[in-house]
Amino acid sequence: MAAKAWGGRFQQQTDARVEAFTESISFDSRLAAVDIQGSQAHARMLAKVGLITDDECQQIVETLTQIGGEIKRGEFEFRFDLEDIHMHIESALTERVGDVGRKLHTARSRNDQVSTDLKLYTREAIQRIDGLLKDLQVAFVERCEKDQALVLPGFTHLQRAQPVKAAHYWLAYCEKFDRDRQRLADCLKRVNVSPLGGAALAGTSLPIDRHYSAELLEFTDVARNSLDISSDRDYLAEFCFCMALVATHLSNWAEEWIAWFSTEFGFIKLPDAFTTGSSIMPQKRNPDVLELIRGKSARPIADVQQILVLLKGLPMAYNRDMQEDKLALFDAYDTVAACLELAAAMVEGAELQQDTIAAKLEDGFLDATALMEYLIKKGTPMRTGHGIVGKLVALCESRSCRLVDLSLEELQEACPQIEDDIYQVLGARNAMAALCSFGSGGEAPVQEQWGYWKEKLGL
Ligand code: ARG
Repeated sequence: MAAKAWGGRFQQQTDARVEAFTESISFDSRLAAVDIQGSQAHARMLAKVGLITDDECQQIVETLTQIGGEIKRGEFEFRFDLEDIHMHIESALTERVGDVGRKLHTARSRNDQVSTDLKLYTREAIQRIDGLLKDLQVAFVERCEKDQALVLPGFTHLQRAQPVKAAHYWLAYCEKFDRDRQRLADCLKRVNVSPLGGAALAGTSLPIDRHYSAELLEFTDVARNSLDISSDRDYLAEFCFCMALVATHLSNWAEEWIAWFSTEFGFIKLPDAFTTGSSIMPQKRNPDVLELIRGKSARPIADVQQILVLLKGLPMAYNRDMQEDKLALFDAYDTVAACLELAAAMVEGAELQQDTIAAKLEDGFLDATALMEYLIKKGTPMRTGHGIVGKLVALCESRSCRLVDLSLEELQEACPQIEDDIYQVLGARNAMAALCSFGSGGEAPVQEQWGYWKEKLGL
């Protein structure tokens, strides 16, 4: 058993149960690459200010690269008694280069080191998630072409409300995922502030150059207060919140498509490769992937809570509780990345069931609001028009017919201002076509939106 790096004042070996309880190597080994990146920048800074020689720096940097390669190739042994990834790498370095390795941790503590690692890791995570969000946006925008001619019922309260172009749905998701991307870009501003050199909690009496190491690591700023550095995990709470909201949007979409995939709706066909069967009912085709995307959204939502609950009871500055932050970070990241990958593939592969949709399009009085707006254009006060159309809908319901089935005489009896141009307004397609306000689901405004997204996404 190796002596602990912090073992100087201890007279007993650590209890094996304590080692197993306090270790984090079982989950933080994935920080290896960023830990090495951070340590190499730290070593270069130490050389620049003269705390180590250029030769020593070179030995450290090269050996760390070697260790990194071994870890990546799975040739490196992890042990509980070395606690975490930071200790593993430092002890391997010292094993190989002796006293030179013992200098690396000069003017640094694991507290600023772990935060540096987490920030570098989160920065990469943000870049990857942003790319996946963009891929999903592209998949939605590309659906617009396929579904050019299609009109869908828009729902509120899951009740048929007003008709919109199908593309309006796809572009609505583009908006949501775009806000997610904006939130991540904003989160990155806080992630991109260097904690390195904050040391344990108070900074150091050694002549370090924190701006230099920050620059090497491509941080855009340097954190100003060492106590804050040691205790700050705001960026993880923010990142997990961003993941929770992406997951919420994915869950909304999955829920919608699960409903659309049912026989009751019959709106959408999912590719066989993305559905699964039942072990007992031979006819079944289940939207399990969508259900799991909906189900897995619980995780990032829980992860942001885990971070907040973890942090809320902590006094300044580092407390060991914070070691648990990684579990939430990795879980939120992995879950959302996996969901996004599958979501884009499903959006690409799905097909709207034109015939089923068209067959039911005239159900549910999707044109009622268009009729009311026609009355408004003819001078009827809105509330009066609302009442008139409501009565006409009730009349249709009593006869099991549609608004368009009413005769001109019947319509004029309800409102004398109605003329025979009304039949260019009634019907779901006409009602959709009449929508013209900015951001609405009609022909021209949707074309405009579509053009916006094609340009924005470089399509
Ligand atoms: N494994 C620890 C963590 O993840 C590293 C920091 C340990 N710092 C300390 N003072 N014990 O938080």
